[in-house]
Amino acid sequence: MYTHHLFDQLANAGLSDWVETLKPILAERLSVKHHGDMDKWQTALSLLPDVTPTVVSLSQDAIEVGIEADLNQQQHLRLIEQLKQLHPWRKGPFELFGHYIDTEWRSDWKWQRLIKDIAPLAGRRVLDIGCGCGYHCWRMRGAAADFVLGIDPTILFVMQYFALQRYIQDYNVAVLPLGIDDLPAELNCFDSVFSMGLLYHRRDPLAHLQELKNCLRDEGELVLETLVIDEKFGEVLVPEGRYAQMRNVWSIPSVKMLETWLKQAGYNKVRCIDVTVTSIEEQRSTEWMQFQSLVDFLDQDDHSKTVEGYPAPMRAIVLAEK
Ligand SMILES: C[S@@+](CC[C@H](N)C(=O)[O-])C[C@H]1O[C@@H](n2cnc3c(N)ncnc32)[C@H](O)[C@@H]1O
Repeated sequence: MYTHHLFDQLANAGLSDWVETLKPILAERLSVKHHGDMDKWQTALSLLPDVTPTVVSLSQDAIEVGIEADLNQQQHLRLIEQLKQLHPWRKGPFELFGHYIDTEWRSDWKWQRLIKDIAPLAGRRVLDIGCGCGYHCWRMRGAAADFVLGIDPTILFVMQYFALQRYIQDYNVAVLPLGIDDLPAELNCFDSVFSMGLLYHRRDPLAHLQELKNCLRDEGELVLETLVIDEKFGEVLVPEGRYAQMRNVWSIPSVKMLETWLKQAGYNKVRCIDVTVTSIEEQRSTEWMQFQSLVDFLDQDDHSKTVEGYPAPMRAIVLAEK
């Protein structure tokens, strides 16, 4: 489970009580009872080639783990076969022992949009809520964060993290099978909190901003990335039914409205550092994510609209201080 450093780190942050309640929750979430595919995933993890990579670089856009020569031909085949049992790979890319894991998302593009403007991560304790397989968590550690805790309730993504951690072996990155509702109400201890791609899935966006604030120490930094609309479409889009084929998209504000929400939630120094329309080059089907992707969710004749007729996905990154 790679939790030894985690429990020490949480104790250092004054969260020893949480460690005790966490242990049974983690055991239950990773049990066969919790997810029908758990056996298949556990088997895949156990069959990964048993090798130590000669290089690990967390500072490259395609996170680099090992080189081709670290594995023999049979081990290469086995690596690919087992990683494919963990399909779909959504966030990346990774370069594993010479194999480019071309994930659905170019998550490195999002990283490049934010890294130059956020508070330098060196020495910081970071929480990444909704972190997927932990791609950005690894990049944060590559930017010298002291400790990164990622949480994501989608068990498959946590299994992908286990596969990566098996080779990276940096225990100052931990990804846990938790949703934000599993966090204690008042953590008040993280220097930086990331919520990327989550706000629009929360029924009550203001409550989410408050929850994020409760995770931060005083003067800690929130990095918030979410879907936004152009002001010409109004203050907030509340989709009826699906949005770009996604269920549970509750609200998509304009940047101005998002900034207002953050100020209402009591944040200071609110500023938008990026607004980008998501392109079909950034989010697409690949060998490692063979389901439909963005191009299938847009109007085939007019890519400025979703199939439902809403404005196509555009995302903003906003920083704020507690
Ligand atoms: C759109 S993805 C964003 C992934 C990553 N943060 C990024 O920006 O590339 C949203 C992630 O949030 C996770 N998620 C969904 N509900 C959540 C919750 N209640 N708490 C934390 N994460 C959640 C999903 O499993 C998914 O991995």
